[in-house]
Amino acid sequence: MQKTMAQEVRSATPLNPTIPSITDVLPSFRLDGHVTIVTGAAGGLAHTLSQALVSQGSELALMDLSLPSLENVKTELELFQKQNNIPPVKISLWACDISNADEVEMVVKSIPSSHKGIVPQKLVHTAGFCQNINAHEYDAEKAQKLVNVNLLGSLYICQSMARQLLARRTRRKSISEHIDESGEAMPQFPEASFVLIGSMSGLIVNTPQPQCAYNMSKAGVIHLVKSLAAEWAKFGIRVNAISPGYIATALTKKVISQSQEGAALQKEWTNRIPLGRMAEPKEFIGSMLYLLSRSASSYTTGENMVVDGGYVCW
Ligand SMILES: NC(=O)c1ccc[n+]([C@@H]2O[C@H](COP(=O)([O-])OP(=O)(O)OC[C@H]3O[C@@H](n4cnc5c(N)ncnc54)[C@H](O)[C@@H]3O)[C@@H](O)[C@H]2O)c1
Repeated sequence: MQKTMAQEVRSATPLNPTIPSITDVLPSFRLDGHVTIVTGAAGGLAHTLSQALVSQGSELALMDLSLPSLENVKTELELFQKQNNIPPVKISLWACDISNADEVEMVVKSIPSSHKGIVPQKLVHTAGFCQNINAHEYDAEKAQKLVNVNLLGSLYICQSMARQLLARRTRRKSISEHIDESGEAMPQFPEASFVLIGSMSGLIVNTPQPQCAYNMSKAGVIHLVKSLAAEWAKFGIRVNAISPGYIATALTKKVISQSQEGAALQKEWTNRIPLGRMAEPKEFIGSMLYLLSRSASSYTTGENMVVDGGYVCW
């Protein structure tokens, strides 16, 4: 039976205009129009996370110590995009020692020039390394180097990105502002989300391998995240950590499979993991996308998401 004009109009009108639309209730994890800075981009974890980022439409500014290793990553990412029919996105490469504050500042300042002026508001900071040395034998220079990279490097990259955002305020009047208690106008960057890779080692002491400097550096990263989150909430910049347990990256898989010692180590580790296995890098994509997404995690800041197969429960 044909509908009358009045019936047509009624069926096109929402029954209750106060009912939210699907986009109001379901978060989006798309990152189109954004540039995400990925540090440690030539590493095992970053490789997988970068694949997820381009799949969500984000342009990438990849940072690591050497350009040749980044060029390999870019080639592989382009192949990944092509094979999966993902529209190509701009990927820029930056050689940079994360423990050198001046270098970090220079690179972060330069990134917009390679991305049509877009200032990065998303960070996935994975640069870091571990050393297994007995505490009583730890050489001071080695310990300082590790802390400079893992902990101070985390501060430098966040500082430089925040400075770029705040500098943009003076150039662009369109940036929204909110008035704080003292009546001062604060620029707001509700899309800004910095995700730092910590480690369960910032919460527990790994065994049997000795790694005191690494453990203290990651404990520092977790507390740095809370400090920055508290301080920069007034700008709308969210800062969070993901703390992985043991990850089976290409590198760790090789170490484990090529020596008896490696196999024994893996057995010892997995015995202590309630889920009974090491993580795959792809198992960190969900937490990363959640933390980067404005609509999913707008009320999450200063959080340390532990993704460790339950290791810290025991
Ligand atoms: N693999 C694990 O089991 C595990 C567990 C918990 C946490 N994490 C953390 O996850 C992150 C990534 O780990 P991964 O397994 O991919 O390691 P990885 O060694 O494969 O990658 C780390 C990357 O950081 C880069 N890097 C090191 N020093 C740097 C510096 N001074 N400046 C710039 N870049 C530098 C390296 O070149 C490398 O490409 C690290 O922060 C690590 O501590 C790893």
